[in-house]
Amino acid sequence: MLEQIANELENLKNEAVAAIEAAKSTAELAELDIKYLGRKGSFAAYMSRMKDLSNEERPAFGKIVNEAKTAVSAALSDKRIALLIAEDTAKLQKDKIDVTLPGRFATLGSIHPTSAALREISDIFLRLGFTIEEGPDVEDEWHNFDALNIPDTHPARDVQDTFFVKSPKEVAESGNKILMRTHTSPVQARTMEKQQPPIRFIAPGRVYRNERIDASHYTIFHQIEGLYVDKNVTFAQLKGTLMNFAKIYYGPQASIRLRPGFFPFTEPSAEVDITCTVCGGKGCSVCKGTGWVEVLGAGMVHPNVFKAAGYTDPDITGFAFGLGVERLAILKYRIDDIRLFYENDIRFLEQFI
Ligand code: PHE
Repeated sequence: MLEQIANELENLKNEAVAAIEAAKSTAELAELDIKYLGRKGSFAAYMSRMKDLSNEERPAFGKIVNEAKTAVSAALSDKRIALLIAEDTAKLQKDKIDVTLPGRFATLGSIHPTSAALREISDIFLRLGFTIEEGPDVEDEWHNFDALNIPDTHPARDVQDTFFVKSPKEVAESGNKILMRTHTSPVQARTMEKQQPPIRFIAPGRVYRNERIDASHYTIFHQIEGLYVDKNVTFAQLKGTLMNFAKIYYGPQASIRLRPGFFPFTEPSAEVDITCTVCGGKGCSVCKGTGWVEVLGAGMVHPNVFKAAGYTDPDITGFAFGLGVERLAILKYRIDDIRLFYENDIRFLEQFI
């Protein structure tokens, strides 16, 4: 009897040790531990057979069982250590980082050249004592044209030049057509109708014109309007302000040139050129060989504009100007095509960090 049990135990021990050796993970090992050495495990089942043995046989039986259990236990703990080391190594291997790899650089965005020009130009006028006003991009006919002394017959009112916004209801209600503003000058009318002189502001913003698109024309662009209204404002002050602006924006070598011009809302009016900074005034393709580039319109506020605003004091005079932001930026950054401002080509935009 004892001999037979001893054989069975030897087999059981060998089976257990082989299974332990073959285990692939500590989790599998934990299951084997329970299966063989647990309270309801294979060895525990043997102990219950103690009662079938005689008193003499029992100590020998106990010894055999204990030896087998000890052997299985030892195999378990050896294997556990080996597996723990292997699992640890595998984890470290997986989390390994190569500290010699070059880092990844986060690319920074850049300021759009139109925004850069708007900010820089506005800053200069702020330093010269101007404040900032804003007006809507979607305008009515009154502020864009009538209040600015632009008659019904003026070609600018033509659908060829102006984008009208179709809204028959609004047109019927106000008798006033709705359009995309064609210049920033309506901000003059809007500001004067709510404020009394002295007034001194600039109005940066987007304007819309129904143009054929080419290297120097686009359907959207930006202007900065300027208006200074007070007692006895003079043309000389207008000239001085613009001269100052040109020298601050382009450097002391820059100069301005005024040519007679015509705008319905100013009298007298002037077209203002700035020294071509691309060639320094010598003549190149940007200035078409003249050394000068036209960048703004200006003049003394027309009496009819004051009348529309309800100003009656005869001592009140004023100057106004409207400058083309992209044109100024083109000169400053030597860009040869206005379309680049609106194409969002990253290779172009990246150059203006
Ligand atoms: N509004 C004119 C334009 O768009 C520019 C201008 C503004 C001229 C103010 C004179 C005075 O061309």
